[in-house]
This record gives sequence, C-alpha cells and structure tokens, in this order.
Amino acid sequence: MLRLLELRQFPLPLLLSLLLLCSLRLCSSAVPSGPPHLVLVLADDLGWNDVGWHGSQIRTPNLDALGADGVRLERYYTQPLCTPSRSQLLTGRYQIHTGLQHEIIWPCQPSCVPLDEKLLPELLKEAGYVTHMVGKWHLGLYRKECLPTRRGFDTYFGYLLGSEDYYSHERCVPIIAKNVTRCALDFRDGEEIADGFKNMYSTNIFTERALDLIASHQAEKPLFLYLALQSVHEPLQVPEKYTEPYSFIKDEKRRKYAGMVSIMDEAVGNVTTALKRYGLWNNTILIFSTDNGGQTLAGGNNWPLRGRKWTLWEGGVRGAGFVASPLLKRKGVESHDLIHISDWLPTLVKLAGGSSNGTKPLDGFDIWKTLSEGKPSPRKELLHNIDPIFVDPSPCAGISSRNSPQSNYFAWEDSIFNTSIHAAIRYGKWKLLTGNPGCSHWFPPPSLLNESKTLSSLFNESKTLSSDPPTKKLWLYDIVQDAEERTDLSEQYPDIVKKLLLRLQHYHKNSVPVFYPDDDPHCDPAATKAWGPWM
Ligand SMILES: *[C@@H]1O[C@H](CO)[C@@H](O)[C@H](O)[C@H]1NC(C)=O
Ligand SMILES: *[C@@H]1O[C@H](CO)[C@@H](O)[C@H](O)[C@H]1NC(C)=O
Ligand SMILES: *[C@@H]1O[C@H](CO)[C@@H](O)[C@H](O)[C@H]1NC(C)=O
Ligand SMILES: *[C@@H]1O[C@H](CO)[C@@H](O)[C@H](O)[C@H]1NC(C)=O
Repeated sequence: MLRLLELRQFPLPLLLSLLLLCSLRLCSSAVPSGPPHLVLVLADDLGWNDVGWHGSQIRTPNLDALGADGVRLERYYTQPLCTPSRSQLLTGRYQIHTGLQHEIIWPCQPSCVPLDEKLLPELLKEAGYVTHMVGKWHLGLYRKECLPTRRGFDTYFGYLLGSEDYYSHERCVPIIAKNVTRCALDFRDGEEIADGFKNMYSTNIFTERALDLIASHQAEKPLFLYLALQSVHEPLQVPEKYTEPYSFIKDEKRRKYAGMVSIMDEAVGNVTTALKRYGLWNNTILIFSTDNGGQTLAGGNNWPLRGRKWTLWEGGVRGAGFVASPLLKRKGVESHDLIHISDWLPTLVKLAGGSSNGTKPLDGFDIWKTLSEGKPSPRKELLHNIDPIFVDPSPCAGISSRNSPQSNYFAWEDSIFNTSIHAAIRYGKWKLLTGNPGCSHWFPPPSLLNESKTLSSLFNESKTLSSDPPTKKLWLYDIVQDAEERTDLSEQYPDIVKKLLLRLQHYHKNSVPVFYPDDDPHCDPAATKAWGPWM
C-alpha cells in the first residue's frame, strides 16, 4: 500500500520514461538486453575429423561442450580456401560476384576485396556496434583502403597475409621479378607495425587481446568481435606441452597438429570464460567455424569425407562449426540444414537490428530461425564455386588411373555448360561437380593406418584410392545418402544433371571476370621491414 502511494506521487511522464527504460532493459542487468553481442571465432584449416565431436583422436573439450549446449552445424559449408571463405563471410556474396573465384590473394598481388563491397563490420557499425578484429585478415593489403581498419573495424590486431611463423610473425615470399626471397614481419596493431611480440605464440597473443577487449567493453554498447585465429594452419608449431598428451600419435605432423588444435580449444575456452566473467555471455551469440577443410599435407584430416583443403569434394568444403548462445531457443541439437558461410552476414545484421542497405545483392540467407527454432533453411541451393582457370596445386591424379571405369560423357552436356570447368553446385540433396575438383582421394587419419602397412599399400585399398580416370569430368551425388561421395549417380539421373548444369550456366553467365593480377614487385618490404600497403 505504501509503495502504491509512493508511486502515485511520481508524475506520469517520469513513470512512463521509467517504463520505457525498463522496456529497453536498461533497468536490469540480469536480463539480456538490446542487440546481442556477436563473437565470431574462425579457425584456420581445421578439418572435419579434427574435432572431438566428430570422433577425432584430437581432444577439444571446450569446443565439444559449447557445441553440445548449442547448435552443432553438421551440414554447414565453407569455401575450400582461406581468402574465398573470408571474402564470403564479410561480403555475404559468392566469389563469382567479387572476382575472387581463383585461388587466394597472394602477398604481392595488387588485389583486395573490391572496395565497393560493403562489409559486415561496416553494417554492424552502422547498427551501433563496437567492432573489433583480432587475427588473420587475408583479404588484401596492397593499399591502405584495403585494411581492416578502413573496412569497418574500430580496432585491428593481427596479420594481413595468409600464413606466417607463429613466433617471429614473419613471412618469407619469393619476389620473382627481383630473383629474391624476402622475409619480413607481418604483424600490426591498428595500422601500425607491431614488432614487440617476437617469440610469443600467436594464439596466446590473440587470445590475450580478445580478453582485453572483452574486459574493457562498455556493456551498454553491443560488441562485434571477429577473432580469426592463426590456429591450425601450417607451419606446424606449438609449445611442447600441448603435444605431450598426444605421444600415442606416431605420425609427427599429426601429433604437432593435435597440439595446435588443443591450444586453440583452450583459447576458445578462455574467451568464453571472459565473456561470462564480464557479464556479456547472457546476451552473446558465439559462432565457431573453420574457414575450409583440413590440409592433409600439413596434419589436418577430414575422414571419412573425400578430398581436402583446396578441393570441391566434401572434405574441402563441409566445415566444422557450431553456434553457442543463451539466446538460442533450442539447444543441444544438431542442425542438418543446408547452411553456408555467406549466410552469416544477413543473419548477424538482422540480429543486430541493422540493415543491409548499401550492400550489393546478397547470396547469403538469414538463417537464425533455422538455427534457433529449427525452421527449414531458406537456402535450397548452394553454388560452391566456378573457377574457369583452376589448376590443382597439389595434384594426386598419378595414383588414380588404375581400374578406370569408362568415363561418363553425355553428348549434350557441354552444350549446356563447359564441363571442363572446375565447378560444383548443390540443390537440395544433389551435388554436381565438373572439371577437376582437386585431389580425389579419401585420406584416413594416420591412426587408422595399420603400422605394418605402408601408405602406398593402403592406397591400393578401394576405401582410400579414387578410381576415377583423369578424363572424368562430371559427377552427381546424393549427398544426404552419400556424404562420402562414393557412388556417382550421373548416369542414372540425366535429368538432374541437366538441371544442375543449367543452374551452373546461369551463374556462369552472371559472373564477373576473374580478377587475378600479376605480382607487383613493389610489394617488396625491404625498406619498411614489414609486409603492408605499397600503393
Ligand atoms: C545470466 O543468466 C543466468 C541464468 O538466467 C543468471 O543466473 C545470471 O545472473 C545472469 N548473469 C548476468 C550477468 O546477467
Ligand atoms: C637468381 O639468383 C641466384 C642466386 O641468388 C643466381 O644463382 C641466379 O643466377 C639468379 N637468376 C637470375 C635469372 O638472375
Ligand atoms: C588460457 O588461460 C590460462 C589461464 O590464464 C593461460 O595459462 C593460458 O595460456 C590461456 N590460453 C591461451 C591459448 O591463451
Ligand atoms: C539506404 O542508404 C541510402 C544512402 O546512405 C539512403 O539514402 C537511404 O535512405 C537508405 N535506405 C534505407 C531503406 O535505409
């Protein structure tokens, strides 16, 4: 009674504004309020079979627990390479629309994600977010306008190229025109060269920076943190103590790699602990994703999926990932919906209450209701890529020509789409590949190799060796039934082949030309002692 009387004494406008404040959830910190904090952790080259929840011998307790309490993405696709995945993540657009269809941006190429593309951090900034990036950029550096700080990030700390030494933060690059190989630092705080981090392992430094950003974040503003870890790309380097638990792995590359996965797992654990400690977690959406499949030449593994990084087989493009958040309406589930890395842009911008005004036409879809409520995915189709000038950098075709069945070839197929072109597309359960998809074998993890057998005798086994002749250039799979891509159905389903070739041709016709300029020797960091903008 007393309280009511007291309330009556307040003037109405004041009461209304109190109510308004509370409806904006500014009057209580225990209830999630305002747009969610968005934390996007991208691992580099982490393979399908390199995470605990896929039965790997590599242990990832922190990632397993987060995924188990969130939504695990079991039919989630990335691009088969670094620059392509990262460009699609930040533009929401296919590479055929940005000119980045071919390979990656190499250190001396005068190229970056086109400057007329509006990137995710710019959109989130417009929606009122504080935007931070820590880690690997790999979206071009030749001009200052290409740098993360010019493309929507309030702060940046990390390296601009695709790979480097984990401790010295240096990268060696041959500059062909000058007949020299140049080694120089690639590490920046904002736009400034950061040379004070020698002999410190990148995963530790990046995690510390992420923790500092979380600790100093003013919770009334929404946070976007893009943490693009160096882990677990080659070179195979990791502090000794992380490989010790893996002494049972005899293969040295795999053992080191396992240690690298472990420290990355610890890093994500530390980041989530900090989000909880500083009171952000209740209103955070954390996305964990790899950027492409594992590189079997450098310790990674995608078994039982076919192929590896740099191929359009499932081992190259089906990504390990999950979403963890107290804001998810359903938790502890696996998503089997078709989801792609280009979907994060529209999804996150929508969650942020922002607008994609200013972007070019998006290829991604808002998939939040699919994740959070189990609604069917709005994505029915996925163009994996069309690269008309593809060359396999690490071909393995030499061992695949025995027991060759007849190459399938329909007289009509090239009249629809040139099937010599490296391309792949999904529609529903169907996946069509054309041209040379890249190394076609299945790579078992070294632990599956019986010690009495050599790798070459294992390759004689039908489970690992592709028997496709080098001339074969068209495959159709029912990926839902046959995720391992073992039974080509193209001869049984010519109508489906035809439909998908028509879709490929449609995309091909609407592609922009590949932009893949020659190296510019002015990239030479001899004067500045650091890789960076030269124009
Ligand atoms: C977060 O949510 C939990 C469970 O609802 C609650 O117990 C806790 O107090 C909340 N923490 C903060 C910082 O809001
Ligand atoms: C390039 O440099 C190497 C040694 O640094 C030298 O042997 C070689 O002749 C050079 N090639 C050209 C084309 O100048
Ligand atoms: C995680 O935090 C622990 C405790 O502070 C620390 O010892 C460890 O180095 C951190 N891990 C990483 C990857 O930074
Ligand atoms: C989109 O952006 C343009 C230019 O910034 C602006 O003029 C226009 O009003 C915006 N449209 C919407 C729907 O926000």
